[in-house]
Amino acid sequence: MKNLLSIEELTAAEIGDLLAAAAMLKEHRGSDPNPLEGQTWAMIFTKSSTRTRVSFEVGIRELGGFPMFLSSNDIQLGRGELIKDTARVLGRMVHGAIIRTYAQQDVVEFAEFSKIPTINALTDDEHPCQILADLLTVREKLGGWDDKKVAFIGDGFSNMTRSWMWAAKHLGFELVIASPVSCQPTADFMEQLAAPNVSVTQNPADAVSGSHVINTDVWLSMGQEDQKDKELEFAGFQVNANLLAAAAQGHLVLHCLPAYRGKEISEEVLELHADTIFQQAENRLHAQKAVLMSLAMG
Ligand code: CP
Ligand code: NVA
Repeated sequence: MKNLLSIEELTAAEIGDLLAAAAMLKEHRGSDPNPLEGQTWAMIFTKSSTRTRVSFEVGIRELGGFPMFLSSNDIQLGRGELIKDTARVLGRMVHGAIIRTYAQQDVVEFAEFSKIPTINALTDDEHPCQILADLLTVREKLGGWDDKKVAFIGDGFSNMTRSWMWAAKHLGFELVIASPVSCQPTADFMEQLAAPNVSVTQNPADAVSGSHVINTDVWLSMGQEDQKDKELEFAGFQVNANLLAAAAQGHLVLHCLPAYRGKEISEEVLELHADTIFQQAENRLHAQKAVLMSLAMG
């Protein structure tokens, strides 16, 4: 693996290898290998972050490397320097890059021009690091996803849902997305996905019925905060005790965080499932260390 730009471009075998490495790193945390020894990894962030920033900074250090956080506001990128020029400069100085931004194309272009290992730390299209942590959590809690039904309630065409759809395509589990019509994946996307195990409904109760994993995310992703009209369309899409009544026995509730209690999830459900949700957050560290190790070893 040269880069991690999306879940779309991973294979089931690569996902399996990354999760196995993540589990191993988690079990042996504190006796880590040093594949990043002597390396500096740049972290270029155009959007806010708590989990992604902290987990990468800690993970890089634990693997022997040095993280360099670069807010795009503080570097010339924020003043209009091109991605391809920034990439060619950093590619001559640092050993890898982690990028959180808007356009997926910017991450692709950075990887192409920098020629150093590049990780997508969230774009408008995908959040691959989060999905690896989510899958690790499902495996830890439920033993795996074969024969499991996964529901996603909320924005059906966000970075999170798109990455979950690609994960379902590669791994074969049933995924039902419940979303207001205006936030559903486009017909073009569904055609490109070509996954008969992924379906979309406007009815959250149908999606949750019999589900083993119920996943949600903010209604307004970063960059959409001023679209208050869009938020109104999510009435009835809150993950709450009422909605979960028809879920499978022993179901998990996942949330990538940050959460807005009283909007996409009720306070009661978040706290009832806090053990899973914060395990999911912790797993960002282990999953990303597996990604870093894999990229460092080429
Ligand atoms: N889930 C996630 O990516 O969180 P942050 O935005 O805090 O990094
Ligand atoms: N869909 C959310 C995920 C946050 C981790 C966003 O892009 O803001």
